[in-house]
Amino acid sequence: MDSFVINGGKKLTGEIQIHGSKNSVLPILAASFLVNGKSVIHNCPLLSDVDAALKILTHLGCKVERDGHTVAIDSENVTSSEIPDSLMREMRSSVIFLGAILGRTGEAKLSTPGGCEIGLRPIDMHISAIKQLGAELSEEHGRLEFKVPDKLKGAKITLPFPSVGATENIIIASCVAQGATIISNAAREPEIADLADYLNSCGAKIHSAGDSTIVIEGVKQLHSTNHTVIPDRIAASTYLIAAAATGGKVCIKDIIPAHIGALIPVLKQSGCEITESNRWVCLSAPKRLNRVSIIRTMPYPGFPTDAQAPLTAMLSLADGTSVIIENIFECRYKHVSELIRLGAKISVEGRTAVIEGVPKLTGASVVAPDLRGGFALIIAGLAAVGETVITGIEHIDRGYEKPEVFLSQLGADIKRKESYAEQRQQE
Ligand code: EPZ
Repeated sequence: MDSFVINGGKKLTGEIQIHGSKNSVLPILAASFLVNGKSVIHNCPLLSDVDAALKILTHLGCKVERDGHTVAIDSENVTSSEIPDSLMREMRSSVIFLGAILGRTGEAKLSTPGGCEIGLRPIDMHISAIKQLGAELSEEHGRLEFKVPDKLKGAKITLPFPSVGATENIIIASCVAQGATIISNAAREPEIADLADYLNSCGAKIHSAGDSTIVIEGVKQLHSTNHTVIPDRIAASTYLIAAAATGGKVCIKDIIPAHIGALIPVLKQSGCEITESNRWVCLSAPKRLNRVSIIRTMPYPGFPTDAQAPLTAMLSLADGTSVIIENIFECRYKHVSELIRLGAKISVEGRTAVIEGVPKLTGASVVAPDLRGGFALIIAGLAAVGETVITGIEHIDRGYEKPEVFLSQLGADIKRKESYAEQRQQE
């Protein structure tokens, strides 16, 4: 397994441009299966989760071409409606293909995605909504088989929780259903609006995506299009938090400041100076951060759960005690035990983490538990005195494009070390 080797204690300074949004491009790639034609997607990030999604599209019969940050998917002639277990396992969020496969072929076979490092990740809301659109489900041995006896029909669907994935699956499936669908209590994340922009550019009729109530008028079929993915607001948040944790001064270019609206006040409370325009945000950190009394993760536009782990690392060094309440996922604190190995003083009780800031962290060997928790360890290593070695970094490569490159551009001393096995393979 590859690892990152970090020599900490260097302030991050300078500017970077953030890659396209992982959580936007994954549902857009899934939705491209619906299109009787070609989708050219620009600003597509180089991530292993994207590679997994492209493998699924290829398996389903799409022609996929990639040229750097541009991907072309030709779904003119699809040949399958089944995602094998092996591919489902490669990407937890592959349930997002359900709506597209059903909408295009009238049936879908996939396995229950299974839990992951941050929780059980049930899909009951997805299943309930898809049934309301007219699909029937049979399940055995962990395999889900959906069939649409006639055609998908529009419905009025109220989500019990503003689930991002369930909202996306409903939008995708109802694009080509008969009649109109109304989603109440829909998720409002910016990735929902980006998905709708992509689908509307293919001829779909989706209204007020980004609000809590979304209306989709079904159309017969979707046509070819070009689309540019929005910047990754979680990656942008992560790099700003890393700059704050190292006492640095960093500008993030080409992001949409409104997308990180809940983070900005938290960074200001911690003593950072923030300046912004319509396409960039700059942060200048104080010598020592103030604690932030309480942060609650909430659905958008509240504080994003995906920035919780990076923020926990940052507040480990603040002057005073901060409290974080993780309201979205049931076990998203696996990074805490690793942060403690670096000298952090954190206690966790259920969904609450109490972070007693310490004057310094010291380098150690740690293991990345998941995507965002993995980057939290990078942040702690960047701020720590001495060397930190992080293994399990394949988790981080799922959602951050070449972090060692971006961080080196900002003055960090971080190297990617290939494992011995990888080196032998290269020989
Ligand atoms: C999306 O996951 C993101 N992933 C997550 O980012 C993000 O943390 C999450 O939304 C919340 O913002 C992608 O977009 C690929 P949810 P998703 O459905 O759709 C429960 C990252 O680090 N729930 O809004 O799976 C669920 O267990 C990842 O980039 C049900 O109970 O999130 C969770 O507790 C992590 N039943 C809560 O709702 C369901 O049917 C929110 O989940 C669906 C969800």
